[in-house]
Amino acid sequence: MNDRSDITAYLSRCAELTEAALKQALPAEWDIPGRLREAMRYSLEAGGKRLRPALVLTAAEAVLGKPASFEAALPVACAVEFVHTYSLIHDDLPAMDNDDFRRGKPTNHKVFGDAMAILAGDALLTHAFHLIPQAARQGSISAEAALAIVDDLARFAGAPGMVGGQAADMLGEQGVTSINELEYIHLHKTSDLIVFSVTAGGRIGGADSKQLELLARYGRSIGLAFQIQDDILDLVGDEQKLGKKTNSDVQQNKVTYPYLIGMDESIAQVERLTQEAKSAVLEAGFQMPDRLLEIADYLVRRDH
Ligand code: IPE
Ligand code: IPE
Ligand code: MG
Ligand code: MG
Ligand code: MG
Repeated sequence: MNDRSDITAYLSRCAELTEAALKQALPAEWDIPGRLREAMRYSLEAGGKRLRPALVLTAAEAVLGKPASFEAALPVACAVEFVHTYSLIHDDLPAMDNDDFRRGKPTNHKVFGDAMAILAGDALLTHAFHLIPQAARQGSISAEAALAIVDDLARFAGAPGMVGGQAADMLGEQGVTSINELEYIHLHKTSDLIVFSVTAGGRIGGADSKQLELLARYGRSIGLAFQIQDDILDLVGDEQKLGKKTNSDVQQNKVTYPYLIGMDESIAQVERLTQEAKSAVLEAGFQMPDRLLEIADYLVRRDH
């Protein structure tokens, strides 16, 4: 998507491409209980910003200097959205954040019941590991790159990554007292999947190890900024725009950045992290860094 349109239009086009691919991602010929397929598609097709797939596509383009082929990048872009969507379904369950709205619709368990919501999440997660090798089978990325991406996904989405962050979030609900503990939660529950997205894009684009390290630094910083902004929006956002209820963190006694360091300092942190993210991209000397820089700036201003 080598063009000069503004970042909002660019992200909408990434989202359209992703959504078209998501519709095809679960083979129609597979024999799946109808209710399970319906529950998976309900959350997958409910919308959402599709930020993580956009980061896969954009990081690949930054490194390559031109858009990556759809065959190479879209299976991986879909895989990360499958994992993210599963994490939201489980995050909303009564045993976790107990939320009733997501992506502008009743949460998965409200429509399909807890058991089917848990299973839809399980199935979405598992399917991500089916999708990544597709890119290698079609010959658009090397088997070695696909292996590295699968390996990364297992780590960044798993116990040392997103699941670990979610576990720390649940364990810490009332007891988090230090910024370091809170940073651990945010880095893992949210940054890790964002780090995965940009490094996977980098691998698809053929990044060297220094570039992968700088992409990871970019992802870590925008990821942390993204979660702090999520905490801020939970307090001051518009439910209609967010597609989810505000004040969920207060109701669940979560310790958040605004709670721990105050609103002004939280806003300042988001700004500082955004500058750090942009420095990492500039240091990497990518052929097409602009969209990564614009996404960092766009996320500071986001209201949903
Ligand atoms: C929400 O993620 C959960 C967090 C990690 C903060 P998003 O804000 O990206 O949710 P969607 O995909 O747009 O619904
Ligand atoms: C969710 O964090 C992180 C994951 C789903 C991994 P939150 O609990 O703050 O996300 P929202 O606010 O419900 O979207
Ligand atoms: Mg949560
Ligand atoms: Mg939540
Ligand atoms: Mg939140």
